[in-house]
Amino acid sequence: MTDFRIAPSILSANLARLGEEVVNVVEAGADLIHFDVMDHHYVPNLTFGPVVCEAIRPLTTALIDVHLMVKPVDAMIPAFAKAGANIITFHPEASEHIDRTLALIRDHGCQAGLVFNPATPLHYLDHVMDRLDMVLLMSVNPGFGGQSFIPETLNKLRQARTRIDRWREQTGRNIWLEIDGGVKIDNIAEIAAAGADTFVAGSAIYGTSDYRATIAAMRAELAK
Ligand code: DX5
Ligand code: ZN
Repeated sequence: MTDFRIAPSILSANLARLGEEVVNVVEAGADLIHFDVMDHHYVPNLTFGPVVCEAIRPLTTALIDVHLMVKPVDAMIPAFAKAGANIITFHPEASEHIDRTLALIRDHGCQAGLVFNPATPLHYLDHVMDRLDMVLLMSVNPGFGGQSFIPETLNKLRQARTRIDRWREQTGRNIWLEIDGGVKIDNIAEIAAAGADTFVAGSAIYGTSDYRATIAAMRAELAK
């Protein structure tokens, strides 16, 4: 049976009460805290940096999953590792040297992942599988919460799943396959069937009043 993980994106939390929002969502059953870092350069929006990660770190033992939408990316990595990030993912277009950036993340004791925008080809995976702990497919264009899931992503998920399964057969090593953007209760089962095992959900969780009920409804869909 697949081990599914739910990763609420704090981008959609009430940021005036961020600490409570982190604690509440973990108590409600979240596995990871998804932390969207936007720089108003690589993406047209601006969010939060390492000081905010450092501030929430003592509030939870849940893994902090830092999604870097910044360019250049390398200088942010030591800062987020120091701030308590567990997983750091970045977009290949934002790095001059992908292999070096992946090594930098791992040398700082974090799990490393590559993020693929809807139109970014999967061939970036060809020579770096041994350096990856996670592959993150964007099912919206990055920059904003609350957008609609792009259906073509299901096809790409199936392709990524095939590559990861083949890699696991060859090496015994797993790579998580995360999906980010437009994930809801009513499409999560279809997304899981296409191969995702880790589900970022911002507005679908933080936009509801009962986080526990929403996460339970997602897990019920995943168990079908
Ligand atoms: C978009 C971010 C997402 C976003 C998801 O650039 O990477 O994590 O917050 O939000 P929803 O779940 O509302 O689509
Ligand atoms: Zn994200």
